[in-house]
Amino acid sequence: MTVDVEQLNERGELRHLINLGLLDREHLDAILSLATRYLTPVGASAPRDDILKGRTVANLFFEASTRTRASFELAAKRLRADVLNLDVNMSSRAKGESIMDTIFTLQAMQVDIFVVRDASTGVPARIAQQVAPHVCVLNAGESDVSHPTQGLLDLLTIQRHKGDVRELCVAIVGDVKHSRVARSAHQALTKFGVGELRLVGPAELLPDDDAFEKAVRVTELADGLRGADVVMALRVQRERFAELDDIPDPQEYFRRYGLTEERLELARRDAIVMHPGPMNRGVEIDSAVADGPQSVIQEQVTNGLAIRMAVLALIHRHIRGAQGAAV
Ligand code: CP
Repeated sequence: MTVDVEQLNERGELRHLINLGLLDREHLDAILSLATRYLTPVGASAPRDDILKGRTVANLFFEASTRTRASFELAAKRLRADVLNLDVNMSSRAKGESIMDTIFTLQAMQVDIFVVRDASTGVPARIAQQVAPHVCVLNAGESDVSHPTQGLLDLLTIQRHKGDVRELCVAIVGDVKHSRVARSAHQALTKFGVGELRLVGPAELLPDDDAFEKAVRVTELADGLRGADVVMALRVQRERFAELDDIPDPQEYFRRYGLTEERLELARRDAIVMHPGPMNRGVEIDSAVADGPQSVIQEQVTNGLAIRMAVLALIHRHIRGAQGAAV
């Protein structure tokens, strides 16, 4: 069940980032614009800022992660925050402590920002409802519902390659039904008026008709790829299937829906290929495409770090204001 929470403070500043669908475009623009200032080429010295000096960020990942967790940690460190990466398997949650008791315990140690990933719907919002007034909560992946910094990094990546999304056809290919990445991409792209959004995959992996407003559903891969400007491949999320028997056979899936060089030729010649990671090579994407000239997958990772720095820097305005009011 989704949980509503106010993401802005009383001055209209970003406090929590839980769900892109509930934010105005101006807030997304502010994040994207600041993120571009934190982007430097790979190989150049990493961008740094001391805006979070004296603040503490806690990463609480109750689901596996490489990219999101590492980039939130690096983003916080490059802004000079103290960073706590809670080892959830060794934490007292394993002894039955509730997640809110864990949060209150860390809040008592002066954690200012919680970065939370959880397999259950509503967890980041419920935490945001209960933390102290100066504390901020960032959703780092919530069930199949929301992954807002991923949606923003995907939008930034598309804009940097293709400019205005209003003229673009974006094809999201694969297990859209179980994908929080697709939901947040849809929210970000529709807010910026994407020309056409196609959801492409086997019927059983496409979302219900009442989800993904205005998106077109396509079950034939060739039809979904034809003329696309952006192709975003998604992993089959085995961990979210209610019945193990419903998980597609990897070889059969690749035969029907795997993104190969030959199939990519159906998209526009200058189409970009995206994937949020982690990739299952040889299942949803062939290595020749993942590592090929049209792939922007590593740029997505670079952009993700800049987006997370921008979000952390923007919510700091709330922390500063709230703590100033409390003095
Ligand atoms: N894209 C993404 O969320 O990757 P991780 O699961 O590695 O964080």
